[in-house]
Amino acid sequence: MIMGPLGSGKTTGSVQRVFDQMCEQEPDKFGVRASRWVAVRNTYNQLFSSTIKDWCELLHNEKVRLGKFVKSPLPTHYLHFRLPDGTTVKSEMMFIALDRPDDANKMRGTQITGFWLNEVKELSKEVIDMCDGRHGRYPDNCSWSGMIGDTNAPDTDHWYYQFAEELKPKGWKFFRQPGGVIRKKLPGGGHEWVENPNAENLHNLRKRYYIRQVPSKKDSWIKVNLANEYGSVSTGKPIYEENWDDVKHVSKYPLAAIPSFGRLMLGFDFGRTPACIIGQLMPNGKLRVVKELIATGMGIRKFMDEIVMPSLKKDFKKFPIKDIEAYGDPSGTAKSGNDENSPLGILNDEYNLTAYPTATNTPLRRWESVGWFLDNDIDGHPAFELGADCHVLKKGFNGGYQFRRLNVSGEKYSEAADKNSYSHPHDALQYLCQGAQGEINYSWRDQHIDASAYKQTVVADSVTGY
Ligand SMILES: Nc1ncnc2c1ncn2[C@@H]1O[C@H](COP(=O)(O)OP(=O)(O)O)[C@@H](O)[C@H]1O
Ligand SMILES: [Mg+2]
Repeated sequence: MIMGPLGSGKTTGSVQRVFDQMCEQEPDKFGVRASRWVAVRNTYNQLFSSTIKDWCELLHNEKVRLGKFVKSPLPTHYLHFRLPDGTTVKSEMMFIALDRPDDANKMRGTQITGFWLNEVKELSKEVIDMCDGRHGRYPDNCSWSGMIGDTNAPDTDHWYYQFAEELKPKGWKFFRQPGGVIRKKLPGGGHEWVENPNAENLHNLRKRYYIRQVPSKKDSWIKVNLANEYGSVSTGKPIYEENWDDVKHVSKYPLAAIPSFGRLMLGFDFGRTPACIIGQLMPNGKLRVVKELIATGMGIRKFMDEIVMPSLKKDFKKFPIKDIEAYGDPSGTAKSGNDENSPLGILNDEYNLTAYPTATNTPLRRWESVGWFLDNDIDGHPAFELGADCHVLKKGFNGGYQFRRLNVSGEKYSEAADKNSYSHPHDALQYLCQGAQGEINYSWRDQHIDASAYKQTVVADSVTGY
């Protein structure tokens, strides 16, 4: 199997490999080198638009004629030609797509020498297993039989990754080509993509083939298709696809919170990529989201000290800190009200916010909370308004926040949100919406305050010697 970036010569190499094998098959007593091959692709469309096209570009065109090509019942190239040594090559290459179960059935009884699995990451493990059990049955004196495959980098939860990097099963070989671009670390953290002088097949590609594609592409796409790193290209299903309307839900301008209209509400997502979403519930029940604060690689105290508190003091100075409500994930705090190191405890005790865990953190409930505001109108206007400068939330709503597409053919998605740069602020927004709907565990805070007051008393007592 070979894994490489776009344009690295994988397909050309695969065609060449199969062709070599056809020519190198030991001749029988009549001097005939017979073999039968199958090229597999996941859809009929791709089979015709690329696999067959690529094959014919090299082996069946105006300049090269080695036999005849028939389109039905299965697209098949019958190669039949003499080699300089007087022997004859007599091979078939059948092209099969898996979205036509009929075609796969037609192959069933056939004796096969080997398979070419084109874009192997698009094929399910069941297909690979099926193929693996069927080669080597023709001809009787098979010189080589087996499967070859070419692919772009799959995700790390793909069977290919597991095989190539972990299991490394006997009898399999995995080749990994250098990327067309590589990461160059930037002084302030992060990276930029630069040309890789060690990339393969550069002399057959247009100048700057790889680097030219960088500016217009998403990082996740570059990583997989150009850099040849394991990963997933976000092609998932937007979580709020049904509810979200960019035109309707995003305000024309950045929004400001208005003190006389009610209290300020913060939704928090804790962890090393913390996010805080600031909103205000209007007297009529409409939720306005006015600010997103997002960081990476920080704990809660640093996030509060460097980002959240400065913003509260600067942008929301008319709101007394103790009246600001914060909502977050109930996990870890709901049970032990006296854990003063829980993030919500820290918000309460060290930053004087009025912090509550929400009543539940099941994803479905959280999405429903947001969905409620998105779906409903109040006084003829949407119940949800997003400030124009909340760019990350907005991109998330427009598709960045998504169910991950599963690596099987057909449209199937995982039931959990993909963890990415949009998921953290969106998690925070969900807690904010739950808070705005009053879906809060009030008793946690009472217990927590009682417990920390008790602790303070004990500390005070021990200091004074009582
Ligand atoms: N050995 C080669 N000689 C000449 N051109 C090649 C050779 N290998 C690949 N190419 C050309 O390089 C380009 C990319 O090759 P291709 O096999 O389609 O790459 P991949 O399948 O990895 O995307 C094609 O235009 C192909 O014709
Ligand atoms: Mg290719």
